[in-house]
Amino acid sequence: MTTPATETTSLHVVGLCGSLRSGSFTRMALHVALRGAEGPGVTTQLLDLDAFDLPFCRGKDNQTTYGENVRRFRASLREADGILIATPEYHGSFSGVVKNALDLAGFEEFEGKMVGLIGVSGGRNGASDALNTLRAIGRSLHAWVVPTQATISGAWEAFQENGETRDPQDARRLRAVGHEVARFARLHKCGEHLQFLKEWEAAPVNPGGPSEIEATPGT
Ligand SMILES: Cc1cc2nc3c(=O)[nH]c(=O)nc-3n(C[C@H](O)[C@H](O)[C@H](O)COP(=O)(O)O)c2cc1C
Repeated sequence: MTTPATETTSLHVVGLCGSLRSGSFTRMALHVALRGAEGPGVTTQLLDLDAFDLPFCRGKDNQTTYGENVRRFRASLREADGILIATPEYHGSFSGVVKNALDLAGFEEFEGKMVGLIGVSGGRNGASDALNTLRAIGRSLHAWVVPTQATISGAWEAFQENGETRDPQDARRLRAVGHEVARFARLHKCGEHLQFLKEWEAAPVNPGGPSEIEATPGT
């Protein structure tokens, strides 16, 4: 028997920040996206990889010798129903910080989970290359990478000092990623698989078309 997806079914969504820089725009974007996941019964948490001070992945053989920080990091991911991965664009891809964190984790942390992707770039071309590669990695971790993703280009002028975006459309696009991760995680967790598949397979809104904004939550 399946449990209905009520608005109060408890959900936990974490955000993994792939920049260690103080004043990171990626972290600002992630905060906005996590707010999009908020709602009745939803808890959110930003996982600051700097605070975990993770060692380099040395392969699975040494899993038991990685120590407390890796254990805590993986436990934080295991508690999550949905995971937002936010990365800066570094040399046309995502940051090594993100890759190492993902390499230290595995199926136990990601399989069957909803994952949302956010990228931030200094240049004008956005972080799509980073997110495309992360999408493939999500597949190899057996995660459900949600269709909606957001990149913020020209990051140095996209955010205000208080961490909010200057352009409300950017905030909407970031929040939409968090919202979609929480939405699908709830349907998936509650066993409403038919509804989940129906929504998952629904034709995506035409990117850039006027209906994209209308369909975006919180507008
Ligand atoms: C090592 C490195 C490589 C970068 N490569 C790119 C790049 O390929 N394309 C781009 O648009 N910006 C690039 N940038 C700029 C960053 O994307 C930009 O500074 C971003 O804001 C960094 O994220 P953060 O503010 O969260 O630290 C690079 C920055 C660094 C430090």
